Amino acid sequence: MENLMEKLVSLCKRRGFIYPGSEIYGGLRGTWDYGPMGSELKFNIKEEWWKTMVKEQEDVVGVSASILMNSKVWEASGHTQSFTDPLIECKICHQRFRENQEEQMEHEKQHSKKKEKVEWTKPKKFNLLVEAKLGVVEGEKNTAYLRGEITQGVHVNFKNILNSSRLKIPFGVAQIGKAFRNEITPGNFTYRSIEFEQMELQYYVKPDEKESMKQYDFWKKVRMDWYKNLGIKKSNLRFREHIKDELAHYAKAAWDIEYNTPFDWKELEGIHHRGDWDLSRHQEFSGQDMSYFDDETKTKFIPWVIETSGGVDRAALFFLIDAYYEEGDRVILKLHPKLAPYKVAVFPLLANKPKLAEKAREIYIDLKKEFSVIWDDRGNIGKRYFSQDEIGTPYCITIDFDTLKKDDVTVRDRDTMKQVRIKISELKDYLNEKLND
Ligand code: GAP
Repeated sequence: MENLMEKLVSLCKRRGFIYPGSEIYGGLRGTWDYGPMGSELKFNIKEEWWKTMVKEQEDVVGVSASILMNSKVWEASGHTQSFTDPLIECKICHQRFRENQEEQMEHEKQHSKKKEKVEWTKPKKFNLLVEAKLGVVEGEKNTAYLRGEITQGVHVNFKNILNSSRLKIPFGVAQIGKAFRNEITPGNFTYRSIEFEQMELQYYVKPDEKESMKQYDFWKKVRMDWYKNLGIKKSNLRFREHIKDELAHYAKAAWDIEYNTPFDWKELEGIHHRGDWDLSRHQEFSGQDMSYFDDETKTKFIPWVIETSGGVDRAALFFLIDAYYEEGDRVILKLHPKLAPYKVAVFPLLANKPKLAEKAREIYIDLKKEFSVIWDDRGNIGKRYFSQDEIGTPYCITIDFDTLKKDDVTVRDRDTMKQVRIKISELKDYLNEKLND
C-alpha cells in the first residue's frame, strides 16, 4: 500500500496509539509515548507473551530485575567493550549514520538533488550503552548504565533463582522490561528507539551440543508460531540466520525472525545460542561460583543458554502494519481480538433517548466485568462503526428501540460488517465464543 507508514503514523497519533515523546517541548529523538489505545495494545502483547512463555510452560519462571545495575555487570557481559556500532559521517553535512547501505544511499540521494556528491568518513566505533550518573554530590557521582539488554538481570540472579526454587536443568527464566541504547540513527517510527521494551526468555540447558540444538529448534518454533497465532500473515514472516560477521559477541548461533515491513525485511526477534558466555563471564568478574550441580549425574557445570529476545515496541509496530487495511472509505485495523485494545464497543442507537441510553449503560456495565469494553454515544451510528474499525474493535453492539421490546441487540462484526440480533441473555456466551475462536 502506498504511503502505508505515513498513514499508520498519522492514525497512531490521531487515535491515541503512539505519540512522539516530549512533544510539547519539541520532542526527544528516538523516544515515543503510548496513548490510551497503544498502552492497551502493548499490555495485550505482553500478556499474551507471558501466557505462552511462562504460564503454559512447566519449567519457566519469571523475574523482574533492576534497570540500573552495577557497572561491572556490563564489563563482564562484554557490552562496555563490544556493544558498538560502526558509525560513518557525511563530510558535507556531518550527519552520522550506522554503516547501512540503505540509509547511506537515501542520504546520498538527498544531496544529489542539490548536485552534491557525498563523501563518507571511515567507520568509527561508538558504544551504545546509555550512561546515568548516580549520587548527589557534584564531582563524586558514579557512572552507571541503563541496561542495554534486559538479559543480564536474569543471569546475575542465576544462583538466587536456583537457591530459592526447586528448578532443575533444563529450565527457563522470563522477563519483560525496558532497555536503553544510544542508537546512532533511531528511525522508521518506533522501529529503532533509544528506549524500548524487551520480552526475553533465558533457557538454561546442559552444555551439550545435541541437546542444546534440540532446545534451540524448539524455542525457534514456539516464537514463530506465537506471531502466526496472533494473526501476522505467514507470508510476512521469515527466519534469517546470522552470518559469522554479524553474530553478537556472545552468540554461538543466531537466527532472526524477520517481518516484511514497507521499509524492507526487518528484525522482529532474535533467537540466540549464547553458550556459557554469560554465566562464565559473571563467574570470572564477580568471583562467585555460577555453576550448577546435577544431582542425578553428580556433575558440576556451567549451563548453556538459549535465548529468545523480542521487542514489545517492534512487535506492536509490526502487528499494526500487518493489521492496517483500507476498504472504500473505511480504515480498519484487523488486529487479532486478543491484541485489540477493546474487544467490544457499546452504543445506544440515539444519544438523546434516555431509555435507550439507560439500557445501553446497563449492558455496558455488565459486559465490562468480563470484557474490555468501550462506550460511544457521539455522532451517528455509521461514524461510530468507522471509528471503532480504526482502532480495531472486533464487535460493536447497538441498543435500539427493538431492544426495549425484545431484549436483543445488534452485534456488528468488524471484518465482515455483518450484523446479527442476539438475545441479551446470550450475549456473553456469543462474544466469548467469537473472541476465543
Ligand atoms: N538479549 C539479546 C538482545 O538484546 P538484540 O537483537 O540486540 O538482542 C533483541 O535485541 C530485540 O530487541 C530485537 O529483535 C528488537 O525486537 C528489540 N530491539 C533491539 N534494539 C531495539 C531498538 N533500538 N528499538 C526498538 N527495539 C529494539
